[in-house]
Amino acid sequence: MGKYVITGGNRLSGEVVISGAKNGVLPLLAALPLMKEAYIYNVPFLSDVANTIKILESIGVKIKTEGNIIKSCVGELNPVVECGLSCKMRSSVLFLGSLLSACGQAEIAYPGGCALGERPVDLHIWAMKMLGAEVTERDNAILCRAKKLKGADICLPVQSVGVTENIILAAVLAEGITVIKNAAREPEIGNLCDFLNMCGADISGQGTKTIKIKGVKSLCPCSCGIISDRIEAATYMIMAAATGGELFIRNVNTDHMRVISAVLRKCGCIIKEYDKTIYIEAPHRLYSIPYIATGPYPYFPTDVQPQLMALMSMADGQSLMRENIFSGRYRHACELNNMGADIDIRDKQTFVINGVKKLEGTEVKAWDLRGGAALIIAGLCAEGITTIDNREFIERGYESPISKIQNIGGKIIAR
Ligand code: EPZ
Repeated sequence: MGKYVITGGNRLSGEVVISGAKNGVLPLLAALPLMKEAYIYNVPFLSDVANTIKILESIGVKIKTEGNIIKSCVGELNPVVECGLSCKMRSSVLFLGSLLSACGQAEIAYPGGCALGERPVDLHIWAMKMLGAEVTERDNAILCRAKKLKGADICLPVQSVGVTENIILAAVLAEGITVIKNAAREPEIGNLCDFLNMCGADISGQGTKTIKIKGVKSLCPCSCGIISDRIEAATYMIMAAATGGELFIRNVNTDHMRVISAVLRKCGCIIKEYDKTIYIEAPHRLYSIPYIATGPYPYFPTDVQPQLMALMSMADGQSLMRENIFSGRYRHACELNNMGADIDIRDKQTFVINGVKKLEGTEVKAWDLRGGAALIIAGLCAEGITTIDNREFIERGYESPISKIQNIGGKIIAR
């Protein structure tokens, strides 16, 4: 696996343009079997996007890419997503809903994705059954069949982003009405619903806990943009805060950044919001946060927990952090401790962070996408040189990280 080599100590300044959202583009790509053609723009070029394009081509969707634009055209659909492709990322599970809708059957090998602890697919399977699919599991694959999916009232036990998206993809062409209660409210789900509605779907309530989908006969071609990546934006904001710098974050939806901006203001940052731009200036003294917990949108996102932990490891005082979404999102804490941080990992979901004056550059390992981003933040502040192994994890979710960081004064190269 490749490495990043970072020389710490520079304060970052200038501007960074945020790309389309990884967690926005993946469900839209999974929806492409549902309509004859589509045109998606502001697509970030990430390895997860490249892998999803391979899945689409393997099931009979022709893809043309021109810069950050994807054009699709559906041919004869093959309902089987083979293991070599689906095991590379979590979002391949969304092809259950879209293939069931598009051709009445789907066979997906168990999805992969970041190792964040338990990542079952039981609710995805339960939801497909609720919509009338027959589901069997064999040789590490999930097989679904349904002559015609039927709308249902589905109350989710957890506000799962992926399960909410899978139900929408399965219900959009189903017979009758589907109501999702306790639905996830992430903006990326709104992006998917807006795209499907532009194609002729009848979806309402996105962004609230109750989403209603009235099945329609078919969907027509349309074009849609990907919303900007709030997690990437948060990552660069934290980079500025950690290095004593100042940044203009361009092409960002400030409404999606409310909780991030509030937390970073609590750390002492100066944050100003303009139309699609956020200006952030690091404080002279970085305040610790007595208690912060992750939760489903609009609460503090689990995908920014590792990055905030890296920041708090250099804050003045003690911070208590609780990870409420994933049971195993903690390995970055071990790596940060190898750099001289003082993080007490209580039970893999509770962390007591005692701020230290300085981190020391050393060899560390990215175990997942956002944990890797946290190590970049730490490396940019540490004394000396930090080498981060497994950079491919980071490139799953960040477009052109090296050029973006170099353009704002960060010393980082790939090896
Ligand atoms: C999506 O993952 C995102 N991935 C994740 O981003 C993000 O961390 C997560 O939502 C939470 O916001 C994409 O959108 C591609 P969940 P997803 O289903 O859908 C439990 C990143 O770094 N659950 O909302 O897989 C699950 O274990 C990635 O960009 C079940 O129990 O997450 C978790 O505790 C990481 N059974 C909780 O729900 C199921 O069948 C929320 O997970 C499904 C989920």
